[in-house]
Amino acid sequence: MQTISIKASTSYEAHIGHGILASCGELVSRISEPCTIAVITDSTVGPLYEETVKISLTEAGFRVVTHSIPSGESSKNLFFYGEILEFLASSKLTRSDLLIALGGGVVGDITGFAAATYLRGIGFIQIPTTFLAAADSSTGGKTAVNLSCGKNLAGAFWPPRAVICDCATFDTLPKDTFADGVAETIKHSLIADKAFFELLMQGHLYSRIEDVVRRDMEIKRDFVSSDEFDRGRRQMLNFGHTIGHAVEMRSGFAITHGHAVAIGMVSAARAAYRLGYSQNDFSSIISEALQRYGLPVESPYRADELIEIASGDKKRSGDHINVIVLSDIGRANSVSLDMTQFESFIQQGVGV
Ligand code: NAD
Ligand code: GLY
Repeated sequence: MQTISIKASTSYEAHIGHGILASCGELVSRISEPCTIAVITDSTVGPLYEETVKISLTEAGFRVVTHSIPSGESSKNLFFYGEILEFLASSKLTRSDLLIALGGGVVGDITGFAAATYLRGIGFIQIPTTFLAAADSSTGGKTAVNLSCGKNLAGAFWPPRAVICDCATFDTLPKDTFADGVAETIKHSLIADKAFFELLMQGHLYSRIEDVVRRDMEIKRDFVSSDEFDRGRRQMLNFGHTIGHAVEMRSGFAITHGHAVAIGMVSAARAAYRLGYSQNDFSSIISEALQRYGLPVESPYRADELIEIASGDKKRSGDHINVIVLSDIGRANSVSLDMTQFESFIQQGVGV
């Protein structure tokens, strides 16, 4: 097992290993006295992993209650958020109790938001079971639900008390769901680590998954610890996300988050070059890396089908919106665009 420390307004450890789910009770007991733990999961992950988690926690002296939401992005909304809060209240959880998010980024984001707001905040632990959640959403403390106008529009910064990542859980992921995590991993390499990008280009991912997750978490930690509340440097982590979120929303979530981010990164790199925000056109090499893992690279939607959705992105501030562009492989910066420039950015990225 590998452990990394994440230091921000609160500090916590992320444990990465193979087969460590059955030891989660011991890992949780390192940070908490015996208490009640509400395990929140989804309808796919629950039948696969809930029992292992429950047995381990019970053996370690915790009282366990469980609640499941339907799997998929369309559950990351106010309805299921409210349902989780009602479940916590009816299970009589107090501030000294804990939540566990057992699942992918959807379960992690909605459970984290419930933890941030129930009783004005109780502790929670992330147990990511998708590669995407391990590589990205389980660390950093962003929690959210979607509103009908856009992705992640209601949320809070609420760091987990610990992250327990058992890479053995990736064995049951469909290939496409695994690829969602590859997109975020390629994003991390593109904004922060050229050598990591070259490693991913060689296809060295499946055989070294624990090291890859650790590198993902280290890169994310470095952005988060210098700008936890997303006012500047952390925004680099949004590379590909403005167009990506619009594609994801426009598809009614039929295009999953990582697939949409893949399209968003290629589109942003192309637009940045055409509009002079990047000196080089990185879109081909990014496409090559993504396609190696079966990810899409072109938007099925025209610019005019995305502009309105993208304009509601939460990175908008007044009449400007920040987009992230690459100055090199491994280096990113932010450009502030007015809404006319932003429309051109999307048009140049995906075609009119
Ligand atoms: P997801 O949570 O919907 O999981 C994808 C699918 O895989 C679901 O059907 C789920 O039930 C299933 N699944 C999960 N683990 C499994 C396993 N081990 N075996 C078999 N099936 C399994 O999606 P995701 O890709 O994990 O996360 C996407 C979400 O994460 C989006 O909502 C995105 O906005 C969010 N996100 C948040 C952050 C953040 O910093 N908070 C960062 C990136 C993405
Ligand atoms: N996934 C973007 C962030 O955590 O800031």
